[in-house]
Amino acid sequence: MAKVVVTGKIPDAALAKLRAEHEVDAWDGDQSISREELLNKVAGADALVTLLTERVDAELLDAAGEQLKVVSNVAVGYDNIVVADCTARGVRASNTPGVLTEATADIAFGLILMATRRLGEGERLIRSGTPWKWGMFFLLGSSLQGKTLGIVGMGGIGQATARRAKAFGMEVVYQSRSEIDPAIAAELGARRVELDELLAVSDVVSLHCPYGPDTHHLIGPEQLEAMKPDAYLVNTARGPIVDEAALAQALREGVIAGAGLDVFEKEPEVHPELLELENVALVPHLGSSTIETRTAMAVLACENTLAVLRGAEPPTPVN
Ligand code: GLV
Ligand code: GLV
Repeated sequence: MAKVVVTGKIPDAALAKLRAEHEVDAWDGDQSISREELLNKVAGADALVTLLTERVDAELLDAAGEQLKVVSNVAVGYDNIVVADCTARGVRASNTPGVLTEATADIAFGLILMATRRLGEGERLIRSGTPWKWGMFFLLGSSLQGKTLGIVGMGGIGQATARRAKAFGMEVVYQSRSEIDPAIAAELGARRVELDELLAVSDVVSLHCPYGPDTHHLIGPEQLEAMKPDAYLVNTARGPIVDEAALAQALREGVIAGAGLDVFEKEPEVHPELLELENVALVPHLGSSTIETRTAMAVLACENTLAVLRGAEPPTPVN
């Protein structure tokens, strides 16, 4: 039996899989574990199941010890893990691609609708008790039919968002480091372009790329200026892909029409200027937050752990 440390609450269905084969020490506090508690808790672990709120770096890996074999992140994004530090110690790392694709694309589309149809503004208006009635020009938004969605990062989630866009009658362009399966591109009627063109032609820009040094502030003042003044920006990927201060300024000055954000640069903090603006929809990192999806993510993370502990290849490794 190996010792598996789970650094946050995960669904019982996943924990049960681990417990059937190993000794499991799972954090069950309501708040996420403090760094100090985490460094103590991991000592002697053969495997770690981690949440995206925990940073996995040399310090943590050393606190665990040389017997550590695997770190299984319960997230598709793994910018919280310094993969090179894992690799240098012979520790396998894994993420949870695929299982959260549809749920995250749903939230991207939810934010697209919230931003373009001013749903948050409408909700706040009603709840504020302000008198309102139907009016020809009351809270007018922008239609999606016939408009262009620009997808930055055409992995599974970008493709799932493109499928939704197609159902809404939108054209799709995308920017991607690698060419996607031509059959999928044809099915989606999606055209690959460079970022400059994507920003210039899109009515909605939706971000689906991973976060890393290459994508830090990928969207900053220049890119916002390059967008159409009546366009919207949606981010369900990672906060620091967008320069939040520049976005707040662009939204305030009408450089773009609006935005929808599920992720934030200094999560859980939100840039104070964004909180003052009506033309941005803000939701608290809900991309994968369905019962079904979170269960599937945790189960996949545990399968990665169990595979490595059995001496097998994990299903979804990142190193
Ligand atoms: C969530 O943000 C994830 O990367 O899974
Ligand atoms: C999601 O699963 C992705 O890889 O984009």
